[in-house]
Amino acid sequence: MRIVLLGAPGSGKGTQGEKLVAHYGVPKISTGDALRAAVKAGTELGKKAKATMDAGGLVANEIVIGIVEERLGEADAQKGCILDGFPRNTAQAQVLDGMLTRLGQPGIDKAVHLHVSDEEIVKRLLDRAIKEGREDDKEDVIRRRIDVYNAETRPLLAYYQAQNKLVTLEGVGTVDAIFDSIVKVLS
Ligand code: AP5
Ligand code: MG
Repeated sequence: MRIVLLGAPGSGKGTQGEKLVAHYGVPKISTGDALRAAVKAGTELGKKAKATMDAGGLVANEIVIGIVEERLGEADAQKGCILDGFPRNTAQAQVLDGMLTRLGQPGIDKAVHLHVSDEEIVKRLLDRAIKEGREDDKEDVIRRRIDVYNAETRPLLAYYQAQNKLVTLEGVGTVDAIFDSIVKVLS
């Protein structure tokens, strides 16, 4: 089970990713979580990434590719993984395909795209800002993240469609109902 979760910021990749981990018993690889942990720990990598993340831009490909390559090589990722927030542009998607081949792992089974309107995204992330205080959950940065998604990440829908791996699901409703619809398309 190797799944890529695609979707705009706030579309529910992290939320559904956690549930998929519990359901399928494979680890989640989230470049966003890994980068935030590096920022928190004050590592060199974290220092390099912080300003870009706070502004809602994409961190350099070599940084996120390094994170994913290391994680995919670990024992628990041999039976599969849920990728959350990676790949995020065509170059990353191409590198991922090559990486899986090199590591002797099967390719991606499905790319699950969670579709959520911009208004709902802004509402969710402003709400999270109050609860969690994530640095990039400020309205101007949220809008910039949506723009970056549309420019850089949206082309991946066509990339996975061309491989017959894309499924688009409505990402609005209860968390459990969305999860059920994901499991249904994966079975
Ligand atoms: P990343 O951490 O990947 O953030 P993101 O894509 O902007 O997405 P979010 O984590 O905000 O949202 P999500 O889709 O996970 O939704 P969630 O489940 O949390 O990336 C952050 C930054 O790191 C990037 O901007 C970039 O700088 C850098 N980065 C990361 N990966 C990179 C890469 N590959 N290349 C380059 N740079 C990279 O849900 C959002 C909120 O909504 C939560 O509060 C949740 O509780 C709520 N919610 C979830 N589902 C529902 C529902 N059904 N109904 C109502 N509310 C819901
Ligand atoms: Mg997330």
